Amino acid sequence: MADESPAAAAQSDRIRTSGDSEVATYLEIAEAREPGNVLTPAPNAPEAVVVLDYGSQFSMLIARRIREASVYCEMLPWDTPAEKLNHLKVKAFVLSGGPASVYEEGAPTLPPYVLGSGVPVLGICYGMQLLAHALGGKVDPAPAREYGHAVMRVAEADHPLFAGLASDLAVWMSHGDHVVQLPAGFRVIGQSENAPMAAMADDAGRVAIQFHPEVVHTPQGQELISNFLFGVAGCAGTWTAGNFVEESVASIKQAVGDGLVICALSGGVDSAVAAALVHRAIGDQLTCIFVDNGLLRMGEAENVVRTFRSHMNIKLNHVQATDRFLRDLAEVTDPETKRKRIGETFIRLFEDETRALGQVDFLVQGTTYPDVIESASTGNNAAVKIKSHHNVGGLPKDMKLTLIEPLRNLFKDEVRRVGKELGLPDEMVYRQPFPGPGLAIRVIGEVTPERLDVLRHADYIVMDEIRKASVYYDLWQAFAVLTNTQSVGVQGDFRTYGHTVAIRCVTAEDAMTADWARLPYDLLAKISSRITNEVREINRVVYDITSKPPGTIEWE
Ligand code: XMP
Repeated sequence: MADESPAAAAQSDRIRTSGDSEVATYLEIAEAREPGNVLTPAPNAPEAVVVLDYGSQFSMLIARRIREASVYCEMLPWDTPAEKLNHLKVKAFVLSGGPASVYEEGAPTLPPYVLGSGVPVLGICYGMQLLAHALGGKVDPAPAREYGHAVMRVAEADHPLFAGLASDLAVWMSHGDHVVQLPAGFRVIGQSENAPMAAMADDAGRVAIQFHPEVVHTPQGQELISNFLFGVAGCAGTWTAGNFVEESVASIKQAVGDGLVICALSGGVDSAVAAALVHRAIGDQLTCIFVDNGLLRMGEAENVVRTFRSHMNIKLNHVQATDRFLRDLAEVTDPETKRKRIGETFIRLFEDETRALGQVDFLVQGTTYPDVIESASTGNNAAVKIKSHHNVGGLPKDMKLTLIEPLRNLFKDEVRRVGKELGLPDEMVYRQPFPGPGLAIRVIGEVTPERLDVLRHADYIVMDEIRKASVYYDLWQAFAVLTNTQSVGVQGDFRTYGHTVAIRCVTAEDAMTADWARLPYDLLAKISSRITNEVREINRVVYDITSKPPGTIEWE
């Protein structure tokens, strides 16, 4: 544990072995109200559920499910010290799953404030084992690792966790250990074939389940989580886009005063929503800067300018810098060098623009919650860098501006809801992601104005047909890639030696993994024939049928 006070060190030693006498000690320590054991919320701190992350690959999903129930929550590493929770009034803790075994040397433990605060607790998988272990129950390796679908029979139908649910629930298990002896004061409320203690509860609002309600394979997982939030923890469920806008507007106003604020627009949903929100708060004290790098899709730059200037009435500086970017990209073929050049040029232009505005005090960024969690995560620091995903909206490091990140606590779907609430058009709110370096990483090899034009034209046809077929919103991304392969063709009785374009359409929940989209053949045929007919330079169209992994979504 991070807290290395003698009491905490002694406690973490003790809770690695189970037994009633140690429970008493554990609770004594938790109740000793030592610094680090006690939560002291700041006055007016908002109510929230705290998910303590024990390293499960599904932890972030738990947080999403809670937010989907209109309850505000934050996900924090399991060893977060108590003082880092003072900005919240904790209504309940949820302990996530995780890969460790509670009896392992150095296994993650339960911070004393979880039990010490007396608020309801939901333990999931490792979280259940941890709760059982910490309270004097017994956890053992299961005879066989249980992984996949299972049926849990509800043993206490009137427990609020099961309100409105059937007596047999399809659930999803993934565990090696399980609880074999309940802690004092607990009873079994659900059983499965391989986990006779699949769910347990006491009378103090502590509930634990061996399965994962957060994954889609537990079809009624959302109801179970809502039942915990409302039926056990008494949450209010007032976390809505409307409330969020209202509260954010008030706090942005207060923070900014009469200062000047800038925001770099990329055309993507995050920066657009962040800008619209700040604009709602401070109006013309905000100037948006849109650096047009000439690497956007057909009609996109005009779209951004129209939406912000005419539709939203936001002050927007449109910096037309296509030539500058193309000059910097001349003869560059290496993908990472392309990204680096584009990023550097963007920062230089952005700095120039900002300086020209005079005294600017604040910078708005569209950072969202997954970015925040990723950078704070306790887990996998050994991830290998695949691509340097610097966003064109990145912060110039040496600029002395105070950051405003109004979306820092929101997931993507929440950002979209806020965007709708603020009146942004659907086209912007539900726009597919587009990489900061733009078409430069979809023109394989050198980026020239001619090659960009060829790609832009083919890409336009892809998007046009995807929209006409009403599949735009079913796809994570759909686009064309201009490959560096030429091939022989025959067009109008003549031999041609033209370009090959690849179509990339993927489905995904997030961009970590993706699957190639099984588009109807007729749609692919239409796209192919239109491209070869309408784009003179292209005589071959291929469809990319690679999932991620092993491929990435973009080709470069
Ligand atoms: P990959 O190609 O790594 O892409 O599977 C995952 C997601 O990230 C987008 N992407 C980028 N976004 N700057 C960005 O802002 C970049 O350099 C960049 N490279 C890829 C990609 O479009 C996909 O949505």
